[in-house]
Amino acid sequence: MGPEWDALRALGAAAALCLLLRAAWGAGCAVYVHLLPPVRRGAPWLRAHGAWAVVTGATGGIGRAYAHELARRGLNIVLISRNLSKLEQEAKEIERLHGRLTRVIQADFTGGLEIYEAVKAGLEDLEVGVLVNNVGTLYQKAMARLLDCEDVAKRLSDVINCNIMSVAQMTAIVLPRMVSRRKGIVINISSFLDQKPCPLLSAYAASKAFVRSFSQAVGAEYRSRGVLVQTVSPVMIESNMTSEVKYRTLVLNPVDFARQALDTLGLTSQTSGCFSQAVQDALLALLLPSWFCLSRWGPKVLLLLNKAVTKAQPSHNRP
Ligand SMILES: NC(=O)c1ccc[n+]([C@@H]2O[C@H](COP(=O)([O-])OP(=O)(O)OC[C@H]3O[C@@H](n4cnc5c(N)ncnc54)[C@H](OP(=O)(O)O)[C@@H]3O)[C@@H](O)[C@H]2O)c1
Ligand SMILES: *[C@@H]1O[C@H](CO)[C@@H](O)[C@H](O)[C@H]1NC(C)=O
Ligand SMILES: *[C@@H]1O[C@H](CO)[C@@H](O)[C@H](O)[C@H]1NC(C)=O
Ligand SMILES: *[C@@H]1O[C@H](CO)[C@@H](O)[C@H](O)[C@H]1NC(C)=O
Repeated sequence: MGPEWDALRALGAAAALCLLLRAAWGAGCAVYVHLLPPVRRGAPWLRAHGAWAVVTGATGGIGRAYAHELARRGLNIVLISRNLSKLEQEAKEIERLHGRLTRVIQADFTGGLEIYEAVKAGLEDLEVGVLVNNVGTLYQKAMARLLDCEDVAKRLSDVINCNIMSVAQMTAIVLPRMVSRRKGIVINISSFLDQKPCPLLSAYAASKAFVRSFSQAVGAEYRSRGVLVQTVSPVMIESNMTSEVKYRTLVLNPVDFARQALDTLGLTSQTSGCFSQAVQDALLALLLPSWFCLSRWGPKVLLLLNKAVTKAQPSHNRP
């Protein structure tokens, strides 16, 4: 065999070594971030960023769990969502359980620029240390092709305003004083779908790609000014959004999720939130690679899979 074979063999060995090192690095990072209690930053570190935390979409699912967990760690909470009676009830619950101060702001994030004046006014006099951009909507009940969704124009407007505009505007409201105090944390709740296009959830996945990209870029801009930005990309958490999923063992309780996800603050700027979600994410990427989802068979197979894992619904709910 000629020297060209030796060269090829050396190249192959180098490539294999690279893949191995990358896998080992990934596993090492996962262990460091999720499984090593002593490296965690703790509540005093969190409180040092400011007395108040702001959570959008704070009356249900992941947002509600974050609000309670942040209060448990000693922060006062501003809750923002649409329904005033739910807001007041949740605020009372936080005051009762955790003995912190609360404030509620009613806002519908499917609205445009006009809703942010009231939000800004509501936050004016507060020292906001933590912002959790959590609110987000799927809008559609089930996975579907774009034109099979009800009221497409409204849907696109809702998803873009609620998932994209809210994150950018809320950050713009809170960031200036964080930068001037040289202290602050912005947590953007994204989704495992933020990494690649997803047929049948096209607008949702694209909105989350914005969240991830924007967060990483702004995070780089303000890291040296003392502002920490983290993107949390969960897979499946118990909430209104996942109420149709049939196999409940796949779905993680939001209280456990928020607790574990907050433990990763300061350790990583991009996370699935916790170990079990990271494993689900890795498995999904392996079993449903992007090239397949985007192939001509992808949407058909995804529709079948979706049917298999969701509960049967009355037909009028299916777009
Ligand atoms: N659940 C999951 O498995 C999962 C997975 C990946 C990513 N995520 C992301 O995690 C975030 C939270 O999801 P979730 O599952 O916890 O959602 P959820 O259960 O639907 O939570 C909704 C919360 O947001 C509020 N809300 C909904 N629409 C609103 C609007 N237009 N304006 C203002 N508030 C609104 C709701 O209160 P009102 O109804 O009173 O307004 C409620 O407090 C989202 O960004 C989602 O994309 C979730
Ligand atoms: C707000 O939530 C309460 C309690 O869940 C519910 O009874 C009420 O209908 C809701 N209001 C609106 C405007 O959706
Ligand atoms: C996420 O975090 C960055 C950093 O502050 C912020 O500017 C951005 O608006 C947030 N939202 C999105 C969609 O990235
Ligand atoms: C779940 O979402 C649906 C549709 O957006 C809404 O009508 C319903 O009130 C929500 N349920 C809860 C418990 O928030």
